[in-house]
Amino acid sequence: MSKEHIAEAKNITKVYNPGMESEVRVLKDVDLSINKGDFVSILGPSGSGKTTLLDIIGCLLKPTTGKVVIDGIETNNLNDRELAKIRGEKIGFIFQQYNLISSSTALENVALTMRINGKSKNEAEERARKLLHMVGLGERLTHLPSQLSGGEQQRVAIARALANEPKIILGDEPTGNLDTKTGMKILNLLKDLNKEKGYTIILVTHDQRISGFANTVINIRDGEIIKIIKKRKGRGK
Ligand SMILES: Nc1ncnc2c1ncn2[C@@H]1O[C@H](COP(=O)(O)OP(=O)(O)O)[C@@H](O)[C@H]1O
Ligand SMILES: [Mg+2]
Repeated sequence: MSKEHIAEAKNITKVYNPGMESEVRVLKDVDLSINKGDFVSILGPSGSGKTTLLDIIGCLLKPTTGKVVIDGIETNNLNDRELAKIRGEKIGFIFQQYNLISSSTALENVALTMRINGKSKNEAEERARKLLHMVGLGERLTHLPSQLSGGEQQRVAIARALANEPKIILGDEPTGNLDTKTGMKILNLLKDLNKEKGYTIILVTHDQRISGFANTVINIRDGEIIKIIKKRKGRGK
């Protein structure tokens, strides 16, 4: 396994409901290697297997066959607790629906993630404050999700994703619920995090425009990777 690869998926297949009448073969022999510091978009139409693939890379879902390596760790034989640890320490997730805790403030939402990983209340809140400032929400620390716009909620989710200094940020249609202008602002924020802080980012999307921000575009159709386009460094937006 190469040291430059922060995530690798080898010969991944995924079959839902195997052996049943409702059996669906979603991923067919998918192979990919993600370089450290890359900004990757996995582009494909609805139903092509993007969420399934992202959840497998993010150790939220086990593949039917194949191997997933995250930051040099083979995840196949890990139990649920060990997988949760990998997710907590190495992966930050951003979802289309933000998935914030509705009864908690922006600050609490971000701090909680660090509390779970063992940081003290003071430490967690101090870093949460810094992260929320960084994503432009320094004036919204005590707002509840319902008191924030969609774009602001997604910024909280990004701050939360960064809380434990992950190796990889995974986003599942992270601008899917936002208007175009707000979506572009979120993508620019992610682009800055990639360029300036070196975070590795993988976004899955059906939206061609989002791929314009990525340095590597992986095209997926019917559970198969059909094309990988690597742009020259420095040419991303
Ligand atoms: N838990 C599940 N059980 C059965 N089929 C599923 C499940 N999750 C997804 N599928 C099916 O797998 C296919 C790919 O789904 P998904 O990975 O969500 O694709 P995408 O994110 O590209 O829209 C779809 O046909 C979907 O209906
Ligand atoms: Mg999906």
